[in-house]
This record gives sequence, C-alpha cells and structure tokens, in this order.
Amino acid sequence: AEIRKLLVLPGDHIGPEIIAEALKILAVLEEELPNFKVQISYGLIGGASLDKTGSAITDEVLETAVASDAVLLGSVGGPEWAHVPGALSPEKGILHLRQRLDAFANIRPCRFYASSLLNQSPLKPEIAAGVDFVLVRENCGGAYFGTKTEFEDEARTEVERCARVSAALARTFGRGKNTDDKSPAIVWNADKANVLASGRFWRTVTHDIFEREFPDIELHDQLADSMAMVMVKAPTKFNGVIHTDNTFGDILSDISGGIVGSLGVLPSASVCGVPGSEKPVKGIYEAVHGSAPDISGTGQANPIAQILSLAMLLRYSFSMPRQADLLEDAVRKTLEVREHGGLGIRTKDLGGSASTQDVGDAVAFQFRTLLRSADIK
Ligand code: NAD
Ligand code: IPM
Ligand code: MN
Repeated sequence: AEIRKLLVLPGDHIGPEIIAEALKILAVLEEELPNFKVQISYGLIGGASLDKTGSAITDEVLETAVASDAVLLGSVGGPEWAHVPGALSPEKGILHLRQRLDAFANIRPCRFYASSLLNQSPLKPEIAAGVDFVLVRENCGGAYFGTKTEFEDEARTEVERCARVSAALARTFGRGKNTDDKSPAIVWNADKANVLASGRFWRTVTHDIFEREFPDIELHDQLADSMAMVMVKAPTKFNGVIHTDNTFGDILSDISGGIVGSLGVLPSASVCGVPGSEKPVKGIYEAVHGSAPDISGTGQANPIAQILSLAMLLRYSFSMPRQADLLEDAVRKTLEVREHGGLGIRTKDLGGSASTQDVGDAVAFQFRTLLRSADIK
C-alpha cells in the first residue's frame, strides 16, 4: 500500500488538545483499513517552537513539511508571547509555513454540519437556515506579504491561481451542498475596488480569468465592507463560493463563526493547487479559529473544527472522498440532538457539557461504525 506522509504540528494552548482528537480519527483509519498506511512526523510551531528554538518555525520543520503529503496544524499564539517582536511572533510560524509550501488558496466552508445546530446561531432561524458557502481566501499575498515593489506580473499570477480554485470549487459545489438548486455555479467576488488600487487590480484580473476560462460561471462583485453586513443580514445570499483576498478573507471567515454561533466548528484547508483535479493536492489543514487561550486547559475546546479539517485533508490530499464523507456524517451524528437521531454530544460553545475528549471519542466511535457498515477497505 502507498504510504502517506503527514506532518502534525500541534501548536499552542488548545492546539494540542484538539489535535489529539483528530489523531484518534487517523488511528481508526489505520485500524479499519488494511491498505491505509500513514507515516506521521511531529514538529513544533508557534510559541512552543519559539520557546524551544528561538524561532516560530524552524527550517527543519519547514523542510519536513515540503517532504510531506499534508500538514495537520493546530492553532498557535497566546498572551505569553504578546511582547515578542512582530517578526518573531508565533503567528509568523503559520505565515512562513503557508509561504514555504506555497499554499496559496485557503478554503473555508460555512454551513451547519447538523440541522439542529441552527439553534446555536445568534441570527433568527429563518435568516440563518440553509447557509452554505465556501470562502476561498488568497493566502500567500496581499497586505500579509506584499511589498510596494512587487512586480505586477507576479501579483497577477497570485490572483489568477486563486481564482482557478474558486472556479473549480464553484463547478463542483454549485450553490451549496444541501440544495437542489441547479442554477449555474456562482462566485461572489469581494474586494474594495472602489477605494484600493489593489482592489481594482484584484477585480480586473478576476474578471479577465473568469471571462477567459470559466464563462459558464456567474461572477458577481460585492464590496467587502458591504459583504460583511449582508453576511449577517442575509447570509444565504452568498451560497456558492466567495472569492476574496488575504485580509478580507481572514475577517469574513470569522464572521462565518458568528453566523453558525461558534468558531469551534469551522475547518479550513490551505491548498497548493486546484483541488479535485486528477492529482491530490498538498495542503495545510487547520481550524479557522485561534488557540483560544481563554479556555485552554479546561477541557472545553471543541475539537470539531480540527476533525472537519482532517476530513478536508482526506478529501483533497489523500484522495479519500468516501472516508471524508463518512467522517462528516460521524460529526453530524455526534452533534445532532437525540430527537433527530443524533447523540447530542457537544462542547460548551455549542450549548453542551461534553468535554473535548468526549466529543473526539464519540466521533471516532461513530466513524468506525460507519466505515464498517459502508464496508470500505
Ligand atoms: P480565538 O479564535 O482563539 O478565540 C476567539 C473565541 O472563540 C474565544 O472566546 C475562544 O474561546 C473561542 N473559541 C475558539 N476556538 C474554539 C474552540 N475550538 N472551541 C470552543 N471555543 C473556541 O481568537 P483570539 O482569542 O483572538 O486569538 C488567540 C490567539 O490565537 C492569538 O494569539 C491569535 O493570533 C491566534 N490565532 C491563531 C490562529 C491559528 O493558529 N490558525 C488563528 C486565529 C488566531
Ligand atoms: C487565520 C489566523 C491567521 C491569519 C494568523 C494566526 C496568522 O487568523 O488563519 O485566520 O491571520 O491568517
Ligand atoms: Mn483569522
């Protein structure tokens, strides 16, 4: 059997706590699938690395990442490193990793993974029901990395390759996963073309590439500030794919957490190519949320975002879409209330009282059961 190489970087605060639960899922796969072989290396990132090595990520870890098929990443940072100069901060570890791997498209889905989770939204149920979009955030450029001397050609490539990921996702995703709407695939482009030169550039390049390569996809523009408002007032408007730059993508994907009521359920994948093409893509799989220092060590951290990130890893980097679907089913069953046939096992952020480990154990158990009944070898 093909041996997959995985680098696991637990990070800081709740990072290691939720990574431990995701690793239970990998153990189930190894136990249940005789042909599934994964070689796991571990490394330091963020504050943990800074304290030990003086740098938020070492060259050695970066080179291990380059040699791996995927990276499973916990979250980094915390108040103990607040005094560290910006260039050395724990968060820089993530930026260096994204840049070294050229993980240029950050895919951040937003939906209710179990129907009864709608009750957790601070929005009125009729507003939030059915929300189902995938935000694609440019991940290696923009204000995060850019300098004013950047060549325009290079920046053009940055926008183009990200647009190709947005388009590919739109083609498979249509207007949401849970809809029968067969209208053309739709992409919402969010920028500030009204004010920023970079925004006008982003918009021009995006329109050029969609016209040339994806004429079948409906492309709409929405100013990023206005998108933030509509995301709260009428989030289903954006069902489909949102295509946006690094900074706006960061902010808008935290609004996704507001829509579903917790950041604890939102996964993400930073990929180095167009997912769904014949070849698996390399990627970094991490929650949208941070290291939650306010709850670390209490057993309250929700491991679902990290586990769903692992589902994305199986789908995009390990070419295991059926197992990814079953893992999402296991998450649904674990979180769903009993009245709807679920177990109702949830952490505090979702109104429950289960611990991080309770949730991880329940998902792992459900996943094992589903794998066996689907008879996947
Ligand atoms: P945060 O996302 O860590 O936390 C925001 C709020 O959401 C907190 O109240 C937290 O308890 C809650 N929360 C987050 N994840 C949760 C989970 N899995 N289960 C339950 N509740 C959860 O944002 P912050 O507090 O502003 O940032 C803390 C640190 O994390 C900072 O150093 C920041 O730079 C860093 N950060 C890291 C990443 C990453 O590593 N990918 C992402 C964002 C922020
Ligand atoms: C995220 C985080 C990171 C970002 C930080 C920790 C570097 O907020 O993944 O959303 O700003 O990209
Ligand atoms: Mn963020």
